[in-house]
Amino acid sequence: MELLTKASYSGEVSQREKENLQVAYQAACEAMVLLKNNGALPLKHKKVALYGPGASMTIKGGTGSGEVNERHSVTILEGMTNRGFEITTMDWIRDFEAQYAAEHAAYKAAKQKINIFKPNTIMAMMKDDFQAPPGRPIAQEPVETDSCIYVVSRQAGEGGDRKAEKGDLFLTDTEMDAIRACAENYEHFILVINSGSALDMGFVNEIPGIDAILYICQLGTEGGHAFADVISGAVSPSGKLADTWAKQYADIPFGEEYSYLDGNVANEYYKEGIYVGYRYFDSFGVEPAYPFGFGLSYTDFTIHPAGCSLDGSKVTVKANVTNVGGEFSGREVAQLYLSAPNGKLHKEYQSLAAFGKTEVLAPGARQELDLFFDLKNMASYREEDASYVLEAGEYLLRLGNSSRNTILVGVVVVEQEVIVSRHAHICPVQAPIEELKAPERAEEAAAPGLPRMILAKDAIETVEYTYGTPAACDDPKVQAFLDTLKISEMADILVGIGMFGGETRFNLPGSVGNTTSKFWDRGLANVTLCDGPAGLRIQKRTGITAKGKVKPIDLAMSIFEAFPDFVKKLMLADPEKDTVLYQYTTAFPVAAALAQTWNEKLMFEVGNAIYREMKEYGCTYWLAPAINIHRNPLCGRNFEYFSEDPRLTGALAAAITRGVQQEDGFYVTVKHFACNNNEDNRNFVSSNLSERTLREIYLRGFEICVREADAKAIMTSYNKVNGIYTPNSHDLCTKALRNEWGFKGVVMTDWFSTNKGQADNAVALASGNDLIMPGGGSFKKGILNGLKKGLVTEADIRRCCANVVKSIMDSQIQREYIGK
Ligand code: BGC
Repeated sequence: MELLTKASYSGEVSQREKENLQVAYQAACEAMVLLKNNGALPLKHKKVALYGPGASMTIKGGTGSGEVNERHSVTILEGMTNRGFEITTMDWIRDFEAQYAAEHAAYKAAKQKINIFKPNTIMAMMKDDFQAPPGRPIAQEPVETDSCIYVVSRQAGEGGDRKAEKGDLFLTDTEMDAIRACAENYEHFILVINSGSALDMGFVNEIPGIDAILYICQLGTEGGHAFADVISGAVSPSGKLADTWAKQYADIPFGEEYSYLDGNVANEYYKEGIYVGYRYFDSFGVEPAYPFGFGLSYTDFTIHPAGCSLDGSKVTVKANVTNVGGEFSGREVAQLYLSAPNGKLHKEYQSLAAFGKTEVLAPGARQELDLFFDLKNMASYREEDASYVLEAGEYLLRLGNSSRNTILVGVVVVEQEVIVSRHAHICPVQAPIEELKAPERAEEAAAPGLPRMILAKDAIETVEYTYGTPAACDDPKVQAFLDTLKISEMADILVGIGMFGGETRFNLPGSVGNTTSKFWDRGLANVTLCDGPAGLRIQKRTGITAKGKVKPIDLAMSIFEAFPDFVKKLMLADPEKDTVLYQYTTAFPVAAALAQTWNEKLMFEVGNAIYREMKEYGCTYWLAPAINIHRNPLCGRNFEYFSEDPRLTGALAAAITRGVQQEDGFYVTVKHFACNNNEDNRNFVSSNLSERTLREIYLRGFEICVREADAKAIMTSYNKVNGIYTPNSHDLCTKALRNEWGFKGVVMTDWFSTNKGQADNAVALASGNDLIMPGGGSFKKGILNGLKKGLVTEADIRRCCANVVKSIMDSQIQREYIGK
């Protein structure tokens, strides 16, 4: 059969690649957060001592399905060299690289010894927690300049949580010694942190002489160039933290019970409730090392309120942002927080309501930003009567450039309690959870003259949700097609074709899933699903053997390093002998870094760049954005997720969604729905939390992507929520997602989450999870057996099948290869 693929026979750098690199560069520039600076940055000249594991082995992104197979990533060393820096420590760097190569080889060899017949093998193989060696001691190294950079780096990824140990959350003794030596030996010392989430910052007080701290996170392909441009002053940093950085890990509420730390990975209790990140630090008066929303620039800005208004329930605050520095241009982020009144419900001190980022402002230049939000979306969930309410009282508006640097700019008065919406309860707890409750916020006298806006009595009409089986897709062409199918054929459509082979007509090498091609000749294309979120994860080089076999040339993921050499040889094609097809995609900064840009326009551009790659190679579902909340810095997948704040997460993920879905037939798949907040035992753990916390914190980002950006697909998670596996949760997949938010697309499982002992295939369909991935024979059997047992009805199967068929029929691949 003819191989239908859009992969190219030319490996030349295309115009699209160049343009996307530019987007990746811009995102990397805006993602870096300058945490501290006593004038060491920007550097005064280009002769620099460069140390630390992240200098030449810069980590561009985390590991697991979130890896991206880009053509090449620019390291810090390379970026600085390309931008004309003179590095005085090349001897140390080369020595470090040799040490790294030896230790990494030993790590890989040890991984190959994993017993593949033991349970949890995949997880063990997937886990890539190689931490780079420190390099030789620095104290005795020659000093040839006055400026020094040390790059500490940390790797994390799917399959395991980070460790609250030296070498991961904490610095090692050798790293401490190295940093101490740098701080002592050089007049200007800059510490750079290259990690997908925070470190314990306790060391900052122990080591004097750290002049600047730059958190670069993990910046993707163009990170090295962006870094060089920021430290030289060509670009002023404009990133703001998307998480609160604690002074010490012990300050994080219930941090000691997180994941494996309390010896219980079967149940995770979200005892902090809604008090996640700054919601905790601000409400309980705990001083962070660096607050949410914080980040320095090379210049100074003022942010002045220029008027507030209330139109219905929409609040707008105009912010005048002026660059009042004399030397550098830069961008600033204006942030608007809302403090709800004390009432019967306990509440966080404040929460982010809106934000906006300026263009690059030259010294003296000014820009007016409109920050707006709907008061309805700031209501609190009252479990007692299952409703979102705005309690009566004064809602204070705070404007500033970080959560801890704001001024009061206005007050919205709600004279009588407003019930915004009435719901049915979802996801009941198995046993009561003793949650934190914040003390009442001290009364603040709003300054006289501050705008006071009174919410009109009829401004908000209560929404009453109705629940039940969602209406079937009414597209006549879909229904006509379904009429031609037997139930067992519908079951074929409801499972993917499996990960290891299976029939496809349209082929995208490196896609991680495919729908069936059995019905191609009857008018239904097969479509592909490819991972993200830091870009489009596909195979960059594919070989076609003389016998017509299609094989990868490069190992697509570090997981495969655990395979024995002879298996790898069998798996891989030979670029010298076989015909080579190319697919180069861009590694963008990881989501945790993208979040630090606080730039919705730029996120649209990132989505647009990914859409262009999807179109070029024929990907229909992009398995991203991933939007779980940063509940704790130790979560192994935090790098793939945006922030501790659901509204920042939702707004940025919605902007990416709009970019990806700008043309019909290209879909995001927002994941992992919901509460995948730790990786250890992720396939079996139950995330236990109150309904209020679930709704206000952990579902909110998904709700924003669905309601505001019409996300077309959702991926359920591996974990349970309050004891129920999420694909089997009617409350999540139907009541919240479809009945309340109006979702009409496809819900799919995460890969192999309906394996034996986990979620049930048939119950998943009955609950509103349409597509079982990656699929294959046993999953189909599960559906049909479930039908016999009465776990799912024919009507459920038909409804789910209609959702899947509709999205395939609307896909670009269907249009192109099969026609309307
Ligand atoms: C991950 C998903 C991913 C899927 C396919 C799973 O292990 O949790 O995020 O999309 O694999 O690679």
